[in-house]
Amino acid sequence: MTALQSISETLSVGPFDALMDVARRPPIVFVEGHGSWLRDGDGRDYLDFIQGWAVNCLGHCPRPIVDALKRQAERLISCSPAFYNEPMLRLADLLVRHSGLDQVFLANTGAEANEGAIKLARKWGALHRNGAHKIVTFEHAFHGRTLATMAASGKPQWAHLFEPKVPGFPKVPLNDLDAVAAAITDKTVAVMLEPIQGEAGVFVATDAFLRGLRALTRRAGILLILDEIQTGIGRTGTFFGFQHAGIKPDILTLAKGLGGGVPLAALIATSEAACFEHGDQGGTFCGNPLMSAVGCAIMEEIARPGFLSNVAATGRYLASWLERLSRKHQLGEVRGKGLLLALDLKCAVATDIVDLARGRGLLINAPRRDSLRFMPALTVTRDEIDQMADILDVVLADVMPAT
Ligand SMILES: Cc1ncc(COP(=O)(O)O)c(C=O)c1O
Repeated sequence: MTALQSISETLSVGPFDALMDVARRPPIVFVEGHGSWLRDGDGRDYLDFIQGWAVNCLGHCPRPIVDALKRQAERLISCSPAFYNEPMLRLADLLVRHSGLDQVFLANTGAEANEGAIKLARKWGALHRNGAHKIVTFEHAFHGRTLATMAASGKPQWAHLFEPKVPGFPKVPLNDLDAVAAAITDKTVAVMLEPIQGEAGVFVATDAFLRGLRALTRRAGILLILDEIQTGIGRTGTFFGFQHAGIKPDILTLAKGLGGGVPLAALIATSEAACFEHGDQGGTFCGNPLMSAVGCAIMEEIARPGFLSNVAATGRYLASWLERLSRKHQLGEVRGKGLLLALDLKCAVATDIVDLARGRGLLINAPRRDSLRFMPALTVTRDEIDQMADILDVVLADVMPAT
């Protein structure tokens, strides 16, 4: 009997029937994970280059997270966001120290942190810019799945979903500074973007564009909001993506890697932008000690000497493999930075490749029909990258028989 059949025997309906069907999922049930490897209920191992969508920055079930959870669960799990707790204070301190910004609001998900960033900018506009509330955002951006963050996102498939839309998010193309300048009016309060558009297919905002945006927003007297939910916490080989461009935003959002697998997010701002007053923002689980203790453990690991330079070097190693595969199978460019990379396939076969790779024990993601995305653990080894590339090579040869 397979693991799925034995689970089914204990359930009152079909194994998947009690869950809302919101995503195309393969009929596999995962039960265990260590480092770069996931195991399903039948004992089959998978090399994981998705890692919970760039979430498990230290891989599956890493020692620092397991220890932090165990230690904190024995002491204090929750005590209401209306009180201070120790891990909350330590995490906020680590975040301001490493980001160079001044104040933190701890949240649970990326969308919640971004929703908070939008509220903070609108509040700042009400206080300091005559009620300006519009936020210039970007075509193909992804900021989350709440109503406001969906409106801030630039996914074409969402253009008419869940109408009426939250207003106030004019869209411009990425890396087009003139278009941003033209979109700014006296109603504009901020520009908001991801340093790398991950969900869109790993499209990089150039360092020159980010520097130009920083100068432009300063001149216009508006805020620069960076959504580093995917790029933050070491993913691109620096602690934060904005450090490649040598700039600093007014508002920064983090999630994914910050929790390393547990729900944890942060909204961080300069003291000039941090204008929330009592009652403006909050949430039952915001800053809860259990998740905050994990955040502290992650921050301490990423800050260890040599950790980030190793991510950068491993990222170059992965990129060189992808470039080799691209040349061999006559594919397109390799995009991204650090360990957030995409391989352009030049044709719409990404879903086939993902399915065939999974059949051979490799998990990769297709953010577009013509691209594969690679977001392994930041601790992935060169040997694991070699194994991934060997499987991908075989699959590419199957899908692209002409090469
Ligand atoms: C750049 C970016 N912003 C926001 C989000 C939304 O985060 P969450 O799914 O935690 O709400 C994501 C998730 O993929 C993301 O990549």
